[in-house]
Parts: sequence; structure tokens; C-alpha cells
Amino acid sequence: MTLSSLFPPFSFTKGLKLGIWSIWLSGFLLICFSFYATKLLPSVKVEIRKPSFLHPTNLAEKGSPSITIFSAPNPFNGSVGKRQALAVRSWLVLSPNINVVLFGNDPSLQSFASAFGSRVLVDSDIDFSFLNVPFFHSMVARAETSLSDISVLIHPETVLLPDFISAVNHVHELDHDWFLVASSKRGSFFPFFLDEAGRRWLRKDGKPISLRKLQEVLAQTWKWEYCKGRMLMAWNNRDVPLHMGVLPPFLYGKGLHNHWFINEVYHSNYRFVFDASWTISNLHVHDLDDYEPIQSSTFPECAKMAWEYNGNLHLAELYGLFSSREVNFSDFIKLVKCGKHFMFTNKDQNVVYSPEHLSSRSLWKGQVVSRRKNKIIACLAGFSTPAWTINYSIQSNTNASKPLHLPYNLETLLPILADQSKTVVLSVAGYSYKDMLMSWVCRLRHLKINNFLVCALDAETYEFSVLQGIPVFRDSFAPRNISFNDCHFGTKCFQKVTKTKSRLVLQILKLGYNVLLSDVDVYWFRNPIPLLQTFGPAVLAAQSDEYNLTVPINLPRRLNSGFYFAWSDSPTIAALERVVMHAMTTELSEQPSFYDTLCGLDGSNRVGDDRCWEPRTNLTIQFLDRNLFPNGAYQNLWQEKNVRATCAKKGCYVLHNNWISGRKKKLERQVHSRLWDYDVSSRMCLHRWQRTKAGA
Ligand SMILES: *[C@@H]1O[C@H](CO)[C@@H](O)[C@H](O)[C@H]1NC(C)=O
Ligand SMILES: *[C@@H]1O[C@H](CO)[C@@H](O)[C@H](O)[C@H]1NC(C)=O
Ligand SMILES: *[C@@H]1O[C@H](CO)[C@@H](O)[C@H](O)[C@H]1NC(C)=O
Ligand SMILES: *[C@@H]1O[C@H](CO)[C@@H](O)[C@H](O)[C@H]1NC(C)=O
Ligand SMILES: *[C@@H]1O[C@H](CO)[C@@H](O)[C@H](O)[C@H]1NC(C)=O
Ligand SMILES: *[C@@H]1O[C@H](CO)[C@@H](O)[C@H](O)[C@H]1NC(C)=O
Ligand SMILES: *[C@@H]1O[C@H](CO)[C@@H](O)[C@H](O)[C@H]1NC(C)=O
Repeated sequence: MTLSSLFPPFSFTKGLKLGIWSIWLSGFLLICFSFYATKLLPSVKVEIRKPSFLHPTNLAEKGSPSITIFSAPNPFNGSVGKRQALAVRSWLVLSPNINVVLFGNDPSLQSFASAFGSRVLVDSDIDFSFLNVPFFHSMVARAETSLSDISVLIHPETVLLPDFISAVNHVHELDHDWFLVASSKRGSFFPFFLDEAGRRWLRKDGKPISLRKLQEVLAQTWKWEYCKGRMLMAWNNRDVPLHMGVLPPFLYGKGLHNHWFINEVYHSNYRFVFDASWTISNLHVHDLDDYEPIQSSTFPECAKMAWEYNGNLHLAELYGLFSSREVNFSDFIKLVKCGKHFMFTNKDQNVVYSPEHLSSRSLWKGQVVSRRKNKIIACLAGFSTPAWTINYSIQSNTNASKPLHLPYNLETLLPILADQSKTVVLSVAGYSYKDMLMSWVCRLRHLKINNFLVCALDAETYEFSVLQGIPVFRDSFAPRNISFNDCHFGTKCFQKVTKTKSRLVLQILKLGYNVLLSDVDVYWFRNPIPLLQTFGPAVLAAQSDEYNLTVPINLPRRLNSGFYFAWSDSPTIAALERVVMHAMTTELSEQPSFYDTLCGLDGSNRVGDDRCWEPRTNLTIQFLDRNLFPNGAYQNLWQEKNVRATCAKKGCYVLHNNWISGRKKKLERQVHSRLWDYDVSSRMCLHRWQRTKAGA
């Protein structure tokens, strides 16, 4: 678009040549416009700090913007898959400048995307809950790192029509940071399809149909989607953040997050926020094949009352959504189009800004009561019905003060999580270690190890874990008061916690699952499970706590009970039972119970330099090679400048952050060595795109 098409010359400029004059003139116009804008703005509630943002920038430089559309589809399967496929195709057909990023890790996404080459990418490097629901805050953060001019977040079943491109091209020319929302329409009636090449919309009889005709047909039956889950959001990427606060870890598609997010963007005041519902056709087709009346239950984000929804509600309340700060979306400035002209109007249908009509100054001064003016007034009146209704009755049905509860316990989690060999990874954590727990979880997620579960020692850890999408259960026998800072080695608290661990491991073994117990302060470089299983049944493989390089690694009390693999077989179960019994009768921590029971007092059951054999249960204890499974004191690895590189050279599977006293020191050591995978401030796992700040 050129400058002159945005600002058609005044009639008295007809004789003038373009060039220096038009530059001067447009400057003049801009000043005039600022004046009008300032005059008009007081009647508008939206606080716009700099009306000058409405100045178009150097348009010649801008050209067509590059656009990346982000979405988190379900598996491409069944009727949902069909609707998603149509939607994605409808986006790609809009412009060659559009690329698509699909968040997810279902294999069907990859096979769908491969048909479109580099234009559709699958990105699984964001946070997901253990039920594979993506986290909204992580999706937004990822989209914010996009290098394209404009980012769009859209529901995966939303069909876009070409008016999207003209609206986005138009606002791309604003010299300001903006954020637009567009409410969707829904209907059961969509008798159109894309041609083979995916270039044109066709009617059922195969004849092409114009956009205008398409919209006319749809207008008869389509209704606003009064549901917060399905709106479109778009923004330009110009280094200004979208909002100032931190997004809570909302689960995507479970209600509320859009509402919360838009509210936050609006109140942060970094961007011009407006409603483009009237200029961007984004549609939800209920069923492409059959006509069926729409049930609210088919729109889960609207109606679902699952615990995930409750979790989002809980977060929204926790982070203060339901406060007086809440914005009424009806107050947003709207982007509308009358005839060929885009305009911004406020809720009283005053024109706030219209580049095209600036030329006929008379419109504003009321000098010329032209047909045109009447036409515009009539046109604007058509936008008086709201595109936005927040259905508060959905929210009032649920109770955010109710404690969060995952509908799973240990017995029901195990079959969901266990891998093919019926193995799970267990960790046990209390609230003071919650950040370390998250870093550990992020590391396992990064390694694509999904068969872990966490036992929460207290209510806070339980709730925290539920909200972070961690498969968690509470141990009803856990000692109650262990959630304080100094629960480290040697303390009474530490003893209580360690004893909980062996009891839980035994419980899981008895349920028929093998257990790799790993403390949260064990950093995993790679997946150790295949190696640990090579020792075979009736062998408990455990880390050695020996630091001395010249002595055997199975000396008394050198069995580390913070990292071991136990088979669900009778020798192991019998031996663990003995350990638990022993632990109950001693004041010591669990570690001596392990050693004394399995390797005998003073190591009487030692076999060679790296094993023990427990004669009553016929269990062999294998002490793991310290080069592969180093403890925190071995070879002073934690003092290395580059711990990761050193460990990689040795071939380590894990490195234990033990042999250090105090939670704070432990944490610092791990963060300092960059063996840390959780961003506490954004409540997200650290991803490659966060470290490099480069993206699609
Ligand atoms: C795909 O859909 C069919 C029927 O709609 C269902 O039976 C099948 O389990 C689905 N597969 C996946 C992987 O979801
Ligand atoms: C939002 O504003 C509209 C129009 O100004 C009004 O009708 C509606 O009741 C308001 N909604 C809320 C929740 O305040
Ligand atoms: C709001 O939600 C309630 C409960 O789900 C439903 O009965 C009602 O029809 C909804 N209203 C609108 C306008 O969608
Ligand atoms: C919500 O839950 C809290 C705590 O369980 C209870 O005191 C309150 O009455 C509940 N409110 C409603 C509306 O159910
Ligand atoms: C829990 O332990 C802390 C630290 O030792 C102590 O200050 C607090 O009183 C204990 N609380 C209960 C309920 O025992
Ligand atoms: C390691 O053990 C040997 C033999 O018991 C002993 O002489 C040496 O001092 C120990 N080294 C350390 C660092 O403790
Ligand atoms: C003890 O275990 C070994 C193999 O781990 C097995 O060969 C042997 O028969 C077992 N002995 C008894 C008494 O169960």
C-alpha cells in the first residue's frame, strides 16, 4: 500500500505534484489527525497514551507482513482431525507469507504437517501436562519469540477467510504496537470446500465462490460464539512485550486463559488493544458432513467442568483475575469496515480513526452532509450488537476455593504412566524443594521420559504439582511437618523423608511395577533406565556414595538410597520389606538401614568390590560405576568449570547434587553449573527458544 492510497489527496492538491509536497502534506495531515484523535479520544474509555500511534509508518518499507500462526491441535483423527485439516488449509491459502506452527507431540501432527513442507512446522518444545495438554503460558511465550512480523494464536478448528489478510495488512501499517482479538462465529452450515490446489473456496457443485458471497451465505446462519475459548488473537512483533505480569501456568483449552490474558494485555497498556471481530471472519464449523444441532457439550472449553478447568479457575483467582481491574470487552475500540474503508470506532459508534475519511475533512466538521456521511453512519450502526459476551454463569458453577484435587491416586496413575517394561520413576518432594522438583521434572520431560511420578509430602507441594501438570499423589502416611528449609542430610526431617521413600517404593513394587527411585537433586544427563535393567532381575542397582578413589565402592554405609533401581520381583520385595522394618526401629536415617540390612553390618555380605549379596532373600546389590553415576563428592565434579562437558566426556548418566549441606547451597550449585532446567520467574521449563531467543 502506498502513502497516497492511505491518504488520498485533498481536492485542492489536485494540481500539485507529489514529492516533497506530499511529504509535507502528510505531515500536516498527521498533525490534523492527532488533533482530531485527541479531541475524539476523551469519549473513549480505552486509555491511549499516544494518539500519534495511528500515524502510518514508512509504508514503502513495510510491504506484506510475514505471519506465523500458532495453534495447538488435537490428534488429526476423526471429525476433529477433518475440521482441523480444513482450518489449517484455510490459513495457508490466505497468503504465501503465512507459516504455521502446530504445538503438540502426537505423531499424527507430523504426518499431517509433512504434506505442506516448511510452511507447517510441528513444535513439541513447549510445556505439556502429563496428560499431554499444552500449557497456554508456554505457547504464548513461544509465539512471542517469533521472528515474523505478526504472530497469531488461533483455535485449531478455526477457519479463516481472506478478510483476515486485508485487516491484518491494514493494521500492520499502524506505527504502534497493537494486539487484536477477534471473536469467532459458529454454525453447522458450511457447504464449501477448498479446491485441490488449496487456492479457492468452491461451492458443493464445484463452482468457485467469491468471498463476499461466501460471507453473505454464512451471515444467514452463523452466530457469535459466546465462548471465551475460541477467539483469535494477533499482535505485531516489535520487541514490546504483550503484558507486564507473569502468566499463570494455565492449561490450554480449559477455559479462562484467553479472558485472563486479554485482560492482562489491556491493563498492561503496552499496546493498542482492539476488537477485530467485525473485520476478521473466523469460523467454527460444527460438522462438515452432517447437520447436527450444536450441544454445548461439543464445546468443551465452554462447558467443561473438569479438574483442569478448576485448576485454571484456581490460578485465575490466585493471580487476581476476578478483581475490579477486569475489563469489559464491549468497551474495546473496534476495527470495522464500511464499504472499502477500515475505521476504528468506539462503543458509541464514534469514529476514532479512519485514514481514508480524513481526506474529506468535512465529515468531521459537519460541513457537507453528504450521502457518504449518512452511509457511514448507517454502516456504523450495524456494529452496535456485541460480539462479546462473557458467560459468567459458567464460572459461578465452579468453586475456586475448593482444594485442587487430581482425580488420580497412586494405583490409578501407575498404569497410565508406566512404560512397556512396567517401570516408573519415583521422586518424593516437599514444598521447600519445589523449584528443584520442577527443574528435575523439566529435565525428564526434556529427555522425553514420561513415566515419572511424584509423591507430594505436603498439601502445598501437591497443589503446586497439580497446577504444573505433574502426575502427583499424596502419601497419606507421610510425616506432616517436613516442609521447611533445613530438611537436609542428617536432620530429623531428612530421616523421616527418606523412610517415606523406601516405604513407597515397596508399595509400588507390590503393585507390580519396577521402580527407579531418584531424588530431585539427581541431575539426569540421559536416560539410565535401559542400562539399569541390564543387571537383570533380583539385582538392586544403587548409586555408591563413596568418594575415595582408592577404596572399594561397596564399603559400609556407602549405599546411596537416593538413586536406585528395584525390580518388582520376590527377592527385591522381600529385601525392601526388611529395609522398611529396620528403618522403623531405628533413629537413624534410611541410608544405614539399607546398607546394614542388605550388605550386612560392617559389610559382611560384600561380594568383590562393587556388590553385596543378601543371603536370606537372594538379592544382589550392584553398586553402580561412579564414572557413570557419580555422587556429589566423586572427583569434585561439581567444582569443574563446565560440569556438563566434563560429565559428557566421562559418559555420566546422572550426577547427584549431594555431599553439600543446606538447601540454598545445593540450589546455587546446580543453577551455577547450569544444570538447571526451570525458569522460576515464568513458571516454565527452560526451552531452547528461551535460551537463544530465536524462533520461527
Ligand atoms: C481415531 O479415531 C477413531 C474413531 O474416531 C478411534 O477409534 C481411534 O482410537 C482414534 N485414534 C487415536 C489415536 O486417537
Ligand atoms: C459491558 O458493557 C456493556 C455495554 O457497555 C453492558 O451492556 C454490559 O452489561 C457490560 N458487562 C459487564 C459485565 O459489565
Ligand atoms: C452460559 O452458560 C450456561 C451454563 O453452561 C448456559 O446454560 C447458557 O446457555 C450460557 N449462555 C450463553 C449466552 O451461552
Ligand atoms: C466454595 O468452597 C468453600 C470451601 O470448600 C466453601 O466454604 C464455600 O461455601 C463454597 N462456595 C460455594 C459457592 O459453593
Ligand atoms: C514444623 O517444624 C518447624 C521447624 O522445625 C517448627 O518451627 C514448627 O513449629 C513445626 N510445626 C508443627 C505443626 O509441628
Ligand atoms: C582414601 O583411602 C585410603 C585408604 O584407606 C586413605 O589412605 C586415604 O587417605 C583416603 N583418601 C581420602 C581422600 O580420604
Ligand atoms: C538365587 O538367585 C540366583 C540368580 O539370581 C538363582 O540362580 C538361584 O537359584 C537363587 N537361589 C535361591 C535359593 O533361590
